[in-house]
Amino acid sequence: MRRRIGILTGGGDCPGLNAAIRAVVKHATITYGFDVVGICDAFKGLYECETMPLPLSAVRGLLDRGGTILGSSNRANPFAYPVVGVDGTEVVADVSERCLENYRDLGLEGLIVVGGDGTQGIALRMMAMGVEVVGIPKTIDNDLEATEYTIGYQTAVNIAVNAIDRLHSTAESHDRIIICEVMGRYAGWIAMNAGLSSGAEAILIPEIDYDIDKVVSTLRRRHKSECSFSIIVVAEGAKPRGEDFSTKREADATQQAQLGGAGDHLARLIRERTSFDVRTTVLGHVQRGGTPSAFDRLLATRFGVAAVDLLAAGKYGRVAAYRGGEVVDVAIEQATAKLKQVQRDGPLVLAARSLNVELGF
Ligand code: F6P
Repeated sequence: MRRRIGILTGGGDCPGLNAAIRAVVKHATITYGFDVVGICDAFKGLYECETMPLPLSAVRGLLDRGGTILGSSNRANPFAYPVVGVDGTEVVADVSERCLENYRDLGLEGLIVVGGDGTQGIALRMMAMGVEVVGIPKTIDNDLEATEYTIGYQTAVNIAVNAIDRLHSTAESHDRIIICEVMGRYAGWIAMNAGLSSGAEAILIPEIDYDIDKVVSTLRRRHKSECSFSIIVVAEGAKPRGEDFSTKREADATQQAQLGGAGDHLARLIRERTSFDVRTTVLGHVQRGGTPSAFDRLLATRFGVAAVDLLAAGKYGRVAAYRGGEVVDVAIEQATAKLKQVQRDGPLVLAARSLNVELGF
């Protein structure tokens, strides 16, 4: 009988997931003669035994397709899983034993988990129970310490830059301040890179609580002497000093909080202090959709190949990572131990300061 491995995609989707699935299926099938089983909707598919066969024909034409053919879920943690209780209401249960049983029943000899830190953290716990896991890092937030780049991040930055370029011309025509809210929950990589690449006047990120009076005085100075319009890029996780994240929905046992409103809040604070004409554009999930950039296709392909090699070599508990142009592998514990955040004295902040970009501190 042919050996079987599984693959799932967890957490928020991003461009490049399908490219990773394609690489895994092609390399596993062609090089090692494995059968690949797709687990649908992250760990939900492992719990509910929803799977799909992934022959070579299933991955034809996938390289440039956005999203994930396997589906994903933000509410599929086997250790805190939402199930319907006896009285019909939703309760949280530990369904990890069932997931392990299903993994064994499927005859899998390994599981490739494509995900960010939350999903890799779950993978680590499943590994402690006996699942042979290898990880591929993805998230548009690029906040995994283990790797310089995660799948999806570069595409998200490109999308944000294109959008901000367009906001520039309309801001200029109307003498407006346009705030562009980009994704970035705990890390401001998208905001910093997109803001610097598109010439934003101010960039506000989750790592640095901003001083609204400082932001406003920079805008006043600029509008008096230089220019009558401004672009501000704000990460969804950015907040004024002394305040909390702007949230749309609080976290519960099964999912993290839904952020949103950082741009509108900033607009309100500026309007309270000035007579500037302020507008907000929220890029939202546009940053996560559509075709991946060439960089992300290649990164996903290289990660997919590396993950299959790791499984084939029995090197479980490892995550593929990109460092200095090379794909290496690191322990999942290391990949999930610490968030990678923008440093106040790091190169991006220094570059921004050299150009007089307002960072709110
Ligand atoms: O982690 C990636 C991310 O895009 C974050 O930047 C954002 O906060 C979150 O996912 C949004 O998740 P959802 O699609 O569940 O609202």
